[in-house]
Amino acid sequence: MGWKGILGFDYGIVQAPLGPDISGPELVAAVANAGAVGLLRAPDWEAPDYLRELIRKTRTLTSKPFGVGVVLAFPHKENMKVILEEKVAMVQVAWGEYPRELVCEAHEAGVKVVHQIGHFEEAEKAKNAGVDAIIVQGHEAGGHVIGLDGLVSLVPRVVDLVSSCGIPVIAAGGIVDARGYTAALALGAHGICMGTRFVATVESFAHPLYKQSLAELDETKYTNIFGRSRWPVPHRVLQTSFLMDNGQLPDHENEDSKPIIGHSVINGIEKDIRLFAGTAPNARTTGDVERMVMYAGEGVGLIKDILPAGELVKRLVEETKHLIQQLLIA
Ligand SMILES: Cc1cc2nc3c(=O)[nH]c(=O)nc-3n(C[C@H](O)[C@H](O)[C@H](O)COP(=O)(O)O)c2cc1C
Repeated sequence: MGWKGILGFDYGIVQAPLGPDISGPELVAAVANAGAVGLLRAPDWEAPDYLRELIRKTRTLTSKPFGVGVVLAFPHKENMKVILEEKVAMVQVAWGEYPRELVCEAHEAGVKVVHQIGHFEEAEKAKNAGVDAIIVQGHEAGGHVIGLDGLVSLVPRVVDLVSSCGIPVIAAGGIVDARGYTAALALGAHGICMGTRFVATVESFAHPLYKQSLAELDETKYTNIFGRSRWPVPHRVLQTSFLMDNGQLPDHENEDSKPIIGHSVINGIEKDIRLFAGTAPNARTTGDVERMVMYAGEGVGLIKDILPAGELVKRLVEETKHLIQQLLIA
């Protein structure tokens, strides 16, 4: 194990599972090959054969360990069976409870369980369930945001809760560079989980305009206007010019009554994309991409380039080590 590794991985850097298809085999393998934790994203519906193919494709690109993320708010039992059968290194779960008996089942299959939480009470439940690590998502995070607490207060609380059990804590939300990584370590975290920064990499399956917008735009908005019909939870998105002109949607409205503005293929299934849908554009998306949702965390204003994922991991490790040394000397 190398510098500050977690869960048997060389490094404490986790690439968040990124729907729809954004963290596909190419990104996950690039992250794994660099010694960090790459996470595929299981489909939002039961698609065990498709998921098995994704895992096996990733194995053709890397011999290193990697994992899969599962959103518990969607049907997932069959998908989870495949994850255990394929014995990936870890499963990341979020948006729901994952009780002790299911954690034990994963452990019997040799799969570690990492729970992403956004509230202190969720961390208590995850600890009691016997998970292998906890990702603390702060309000700064891009994508669907679980809670209202920021990392500066929530990470140390969770660290204090679990430190006696040796459960590593991983900070997620707004972190994109060595300064964020160092700050997370100072809060007591053992590692970091980044979503937005990994969307803006060469290997991510995001649409080129989405990647370019992350490198060019600086502000985000915490809102509830996208994807209400499919998954009505708050989310943090990039403040695009479409959003500046259309920042509100009456409470009784959702994407179902809106026009189709494009199409995509998501987990192998063709989909129409309506205005105000919660579907971020991936590389297969066509149509009016500028008016589609682009999830982004508060660190987006610090992203200025689209890097190969392995280079990003390497730089983060080197720059964080350097920054810590500088701070100790000063
Ligand atoms: C495009 C995108 C898709 C995401 N999809 C998921 C997901 O499927 N499951 C999940 O647990 N978290 C998801 N997240 C949230 C991440 O797990 C993580 O909490 C967040 O990205 C951290 O904040 P950051 O984006 O500022 O790094 C997503 C985030 C983004 C930006």
